[in-house]
Amino acid sequence: MDTVIVGASEVAHLSKSNGENGRIDGELMLNREAHVTDDLAIHIKDGIIVKFSSNDEMIHEWGSPIKSSSEVNYIDVEGAAIVPGFVDAHTHLLWDGDRSKEMAMKLSGMSYREISENGLGIASTVSATQNASIERMLEIGKERLRRAHELGTTTLESKSGYGLDLETELRMLQASSSLEKNNVTLHHTWLGAHAYPENVNQNNWDRHLIDEQLPAVIDQGIAQYVDVFCEPGWFSVETTEEICRKSMSKGLEIRLHVDEFTDGGGLNLAAELGARTADHAGYSCDDARAKASHAGVNTGFLPGTPYVHGDSFQTDLARSIEEGWKWSLATDFNPNCRSLSIPFVGSLAVHRMRIPPIAALIAVTTNAASTLDVEHGVGKLVEGGVADLNILRTKSADGWCQMPGDNSVRISFHHSQL
Ligand code: NIG
Ligand code: FE
Repeated sequence: MDTVIVGASEVAHLSKSNGENGRIDGELMLNREAHVTDDLAIHIKDGIIVKFSSNDEMIHEWGSPIKSSSEVNYIDVEGAAIVPGFVDAHTHLLWDGDRSKEMAMKLSGMSYREISENGLGIASTVSATQNASIERMLEIGKERLRRAHELGTTTLESKSGYGLDLETELRMLQASSSLEKNNVTLHHTWLGAHAYPENVNQNNWDRHLIDEQLPAVIDQGIAQYVDVFCEPGWFSVETTEEICRKSMSKGLEIRLHVDEFTDGGGLNLAAELGARTADHAGYSCDDARAKASHAGVNTGFLPGTPYVHGDSFQTDLARSIEEGWKWSLATDFNPNCRSLSIPFVGSLAVHRMRIPPIAALIAVTTNAASTLDVEHGVGKLVEGGVADLNILRTKSADGWCQMPGDNSVRISFHHSQL
């Protein structure tokens, strides 16, 4: 099948890079001219971009007027902008239950930690998730992926972590694997070390994770990555290191939750381990930020989480650009932060954290993709790469993140649809 797309006012191709895995860091993030071109038509064959040319050339090649037929899918976007499909590289996609009532507790002054000490928070999602069948999880997952794709996401990382026990963790990862082919490419992460179950001896639980859950996950081949909630009060730096080193020796790659509420040394550990990404990282110190970037470790900022907590954004994105640190943005979709909207994350980055839309776009596409083992071209629009792309509701590519509360994406295509 051939697809010909013409009529875009701007195409944000993001094809120029200055780092490994196609990354765009530092000053280059701000150079809009290097990343956006007008008068660019796209020819796609069986999901792969085969050619860019000017609109006139493309129309000349395909005959004017181009007509859709059984062999050619002709799309005139009528002046809209086109950007790459979004890469949401940090989500907790699968869980059951409803934590909306915790908002009243937050408003009464209770902290996230106090809420979890009262048996709510992660623990309440865990009991609802343990009671959910695989069929229910698939139904929930399908609906969430439908919404994510509607909002422009074409690649998404999905973590387990609300099962806690071996059986439910495996069920969640199996459900996650079975959700492929829903117009969103999935990447699967085992987050067994998300919380300690109530009344367990923590050392015994660490052993259970390392000696039983991890081997079972590896045996089933259902996760490519491992994640740990490395934070004072949850998993210590020492336990995190042990889980990660054993996982690495078995071929898993590391993604971590670090320094979300305090600087507990998590980002520093991520740098030493050579993690793919260390996320949250609101309270990490500058030394750790520089060390991580130097080691090629990405920092995944998740502004939706402080937003729903009513906290200030600890991260200075403009400074991260200035220093040339390696970073990306993601939703952190979870029961406490129920947004699968990458355009909303972009709005927080632009309207609140005050960086230009092009830099935020790079952070949710190219740089997020660099943390995952993706097919060629994911997070960019390049010849020979997969055609994951979003047609926006705006003429300017900058509009992708400027409709807070609404969907800036008119239509999103995953390459399997083209
Ligand atoms: O990334 N901080 C750890 N895990 C999730 C939230 C867990 C929850 O509150 O259910 C996060 O924000
Ligand atoms: Fe998270």
